[in-house]
Amino acid sequence: MGQKIRAKITGLGRYVPPRVVTNDEIAKLVDTNNEWIVERTGIHQRHWAEKGTATSDLAVKAVEDLLQKRGIDGSEIELIIVSTVTPDMFFPSTACLIQERIGAKKAWGYDILAACSSFLYSLTTGAQFIESGRHKKVLIVGADVMTSIVNPEDRTTIILFGDGAGAVLLEPTEEGEEDYGILDFRHEVDGSGAEFLSMPGGGSLHPSSHETIDKKMHYIHQSGQQVFKFAVRKMEELSTGMLAKHQLTGDDLGCFIAHQANLRIIDATASKIGIADDKVIRNIHKYGNTTAATIPLAIGDAIDSGRLKKGDLVLFAAVGAGFTSGSVLARWAY
Ligand code: UT7
Repeated sequence: MGQKIRAKITGLGRYVPPRVVTNDEIAKLVDTNNEWIVERTGIHQRHWAEKGTATSDLAVKAVEDLLQKRGIDGSEIELIIVSTVTPDMFFPSTACLIQERIGAKKAWGYDILAACSSFLYSLTTGAQFIESGRHKKVLIVGADVMTSIVNPEDRTTIILFGDGAGAVLLEPTEEGEEDYGILDFRHEVDGSGAEFLSMPGGGSLHPSSHETIDKKMHYIHQSGQQVFKFAVRKMEELSTGMLAKHQLTGDDLGCFIAHQANLRIIDATASKIGIADDKVIRNIHKYGNTTAATIPLAIGDAIDSGRLKKGDLVLFAAVGAGFTSGSVLARWAY
C-alpha cells in the first residue's frame, strides 16, 4: 500500500491595510483608555481599512503575495476556500470574486462561515480534497474587514477588532514526507452559544429594514464575558486533548498558534499545555482580532521570527462565534 497523502502548507501570503489605529486614537472615539485595553486584551494597535475597502480587496493582495512567494500563477489553483464573516456581499461568495481577480480560471470555490474558527475549518476542509487525491493546489484564504460590522459607538467591541487577510496554499505531501502536513484535527460546534456573539440583522430572520438599522442589528453584538469563559475552557480542552491523543507534550511542539482574540485567552491556554513562552505566537498587540485572518497572520510572524521551521510540530487552536472551535496539529513542511 502506498503512503498516505497528506495536505501540507507550501506557501503563505499576508496583507493588512496600511492605516494603524492606536488605543489612544480609539479613546478619542469612545470612553476607554490605553491602559484598560492593554491590560484586558493585550492589544496596542490594529489596522483599519479605509471606507469602501472590501474583504476581497484585502484577500486578493494576500493571495498575490502568496502566489508571488510560491512562484505560481493563479491559473494553477484548483479550489478556493474563503473564510470570512464579512463577505463583500451575501452572494456571490467572496471566493467567486477572488477567483475572477486572481485569474484562477480552472478553480471552483466557496466561502465558509465559522467566524474566528473559520480559517481552521477551511484548512481542514481543503485538506480533505488533497488527501482524497482530488486536488493538488487548494487555496485557503482568511480575510475580514471587521470595521464594516463593528459599532463605532460600542467600546466593548471597537477596541478589539482589526482588518486583515492571509492565505495559504495546500499541496500534497511527497515521497518521504509521511509525517508532514496536516496530521489531525478536531472541530466542534456548540450552538447554545449562538446568542452570545452574533450579527443579528440583515439575514432571513431580520432582513435589513429601517428598524434593524435603528436597533443597530447590523453590528456585532457580543457578551464578552460569556465568550471569554467559553473560549478559555474550550481552547484549553481542545489543545490539551489533541496533545494527549498523540502522546505529546508542550515540549514536543515547535510552536503554538492560537486565534488572537484576547491575550489572556492565549496565555491561559499556553500555560495549560505547558509550552515554553517563546514558542507561543502572539501578535494581537499589533493587529487586534482580525477574525479569519489571525492565524495566517500569526503563521507569518512565526516564520519571520524563526520560530516555525521545516519539521516543527505546530498546534493551532481557535474558538469563535457559534460557538465554533477547533484544533489542528501539523508538521511544518517548508
Ligand atoms: O474572536 C471572537 C471571540 N471573542 C472573544 O474571544 C472576546 C472574549 N471576551 C473578551 O475578550 C473580554 O470579555 C473583553 C475584552 C471583551 C472584555 O473584558 P472583560 O475583562 O471581560 O471586561 P468586562 O466585560 O467584564 O467589563 C469590565 C468593566 C465593566 O465595567 P464595570 O461594570 O465593572 O463598571 C465594563 O463596562 O470594564 C468596562 N469596560 C470598559 N472600560 C474601558 C468594557 N469595555 C471597556 C473599555 N474601556 N473598552
